[in-house]
Amino acid sequence: MAKPSLEDFKERLELIQPKLFEALKEKKRFFSFRTNLHKTTPNEVISLLEREGYSPKKVDGFENAFILPIEERKKITKSSAYTSELIYIQNLSSIFAAEALDIQKEDWVLDLAAAPGGKSLIFSEKAQKVSAVEPNKERFFRMKRNFKQKGAKNIQTYNKDGRFVYKSCPMWFDKVFLDAPCSSEVHIELDKGLTWWSLRRIHKFAKLQKELIISAFESLKSGGEMIYATCTFAPEENEAVIDFLLQKYPNATLL
Ligand SMILES: C[S@@+](CC[C@H](N)C(=O)[O-])C[C@H]1O[C@@H](n2cnc3c(N)ncnc32)[C@H](O)[C@@H]1O
Repeated sequence: MAKPSLEDFKERLELIQPKLFEALKEKKRFFSFRTNLHKTTPNEVISLLEREGYSPKKVDGFENAFILPIEERKKITKSSAYTSELIYIQNLSSIFAAEALDIQKEDWVLDLAAAPGGKSLIFSEKAQKVSAVEPNKERFFRMKRNFKQKGAKNIQTYNKDGRFVYKSCPMWFDKVFLDAPCSSEVHIELDKGLTWWSLRRIHKFAKLQKELIISAFESLKSGGEMIYATCTFAPEENEAVIDFLLQKYPNATLL
C-alpha cells in the first residue's frame, strides 16, 4: 500500500465530515478536569481552587466536569487540589463517554482497555466494583499507581489481553466499557507529516477492535449494557465494528 499524503488524509476526513480537517488544526483554548469523588466533593474543590486564584467553570449538563483556560494547564499541577489528588485532568470527550454508561450502585463494571484509567475512575465512583484490563505492562503499572493515588479501592486490575477475557468471565458483568485502541487522528501533528496515520493502520486496528468487541459482548450479562468508544473518526473502526457485532449477534440491540 502506498504511503498516504497529507492530501489523501485531508480528502478522507472531509468525506467523513467537511469541517474535520480544519477543526484538527484549531488550538485548544481550555482544558478540563473532574473532582475525585473518592476524596472530596465538587463544591469543596471549587472553593479550594478559587482560594488559590482559579475560576473554574462548570460544564453545562454535568455535575462534575469543569474547564479552565489552557494557559493554566501547567500551573494547576502545582495547586494543592492537584498535588493532593483531589482533581483529575481529563478530556471532556472522555468524561462524556464514561458518564454515558448508565451505572447503578450494585453494578460490576468491566473496563476492557483501561489504561491510564481515567474512565475506570469515573465508573468506580458509581459502581460496586470495577475490573480494569490492560495488556501493556508499563501502562498497566502506571494505571495501578493512578488508582492507588486516587484512593479507588473497588477497582481490580488485570494485566491481560482483552480479547480473551470472555473465556474466563462469560456473562459476568452488568456493564462493559470498551475504549478501543485506535488510529486516533488527534496524535497527528499536521506540520510534521503523517508519521502515525495510514489506511493500513486503520485496518489493523479494525481487526483488533472486532476481536475486542466480541470479548466485551460475551462478557456482558444478559440484559446488560455496553459502550463501544474510540478516539478516531474512521468509519472502519466505528460504525463497521458495531455493524459486525450486530450481524454476528441477533440478540445485541443498538441503544
Ligand atoms: C484509548 S486507550 C484507553 C484509555 C482509557 N480507557 C482511559 O480512559 O484512561 C486504549 C488502551 O487499550 C490498550 N490495548 C491495546 N491492545 C489491547 C488489547 N488487546 N486488550 C485490551 N487493551 C488493549 C492500550 O494499551 C491502551 O492503553
